[in-house]
Amino acid sequence: MRNLVFALVSVVGAALSMATCPAIAASSQERFEQCLSCHGGKGQSENPETPSLGGQPEDYLLTQMFTFREKLRKSDLMNEMAKDLSDDDLRNFSIALAKLPAPAPATTPADAARVERAKILIVQGKCGICHQENLAGKDQVPRIAAQREDYLLKSLREYKSGVRVGYDPAMIEVMRTITEDNIVDLAHYLARTP
Ligand code: HEC
Ligand code: HEC
Repeated sequence: MRNLVFALVSVVGAALSMATCPAIAASSQERFEQCLSCHGGKGQSENPETPSLGGQPEDYLLTQMFTFREKLRKSDLMNEMAKDLSDDDLRNFSIALAKLPAPAPATTPADAARVERAKILIVQGKCGICHQENLAGKDQVPRIAAQREDYLLKSLREYKSGVRVGYDPAMIEVMRTITEDNIVDLAHYLARTP
């Protein structure tokens, strides 16, 4: 029954948007495929500054989609993507994305000195207390292991500058003692951590 209602809502929704703008008319399934075209159908993104979403905790995905939809998190692209998604879409997409495999770490060579510095920063910053010891995240705290390096750089810089305020303000506090050089070391190491 729930599926039937869901299907009906999708059909009505598609018909409504088709009436106003044929180019963006799409059922929930088509919308989901659009998500995968940027974020990667197997959980691993191949696109610059676009995060891999495979293996992200479902709750984290849901809260971030909610903040994009409500424009509490600013990204012109994702605000546009999320703006007309229903609560059911947010929930269903989050469940499906969380089930995709976690991304594989970057294979380009690691710089030993940067890795050493990053490991110390991770202990000092207590990253593992919230992100879990294996950095795979839990509940509303994201997986940061094997995320794309360019996206890690962008997100850490945005917390530092205050552009990204977070659903939870924990990262604003964490970034107070982290410098630009630290950010570069952390992103380098995290992207290569399985
Ligand atoms: C045209 C490419 C594109 C499409 C299509 C797209 N995204 Fe995104 N998405 C991005 C980019 C780029 C970001 C990074 C935004 C930022 O820098 O804050 C992002 C960020 C996200 C995040 C935040 C992840 C994190 O680690 O914080 C989630 C969740 C997300 N997208 C889900 C979706 C879903 C669900 C859809 C489909 C409804 C979708 N995206 C469609 C490009 C895209
Ligand atoms: C007190 C808990 C806490 C600690 C300690 C912490 N984080 Fe976070 N982190 C979070 C939460 C919660 C979020 C999601 C916040 C939001 O809604 O934007 C997050 C988000 C992030 C993101 C964004 C990921 C994405 O997909 O967009 C990165 C990168 C990150 N943390 C790295 C770190 C690093 C590196 C450390 C240690 C130096 C650290 N965090 C310490 C709680 C914490």
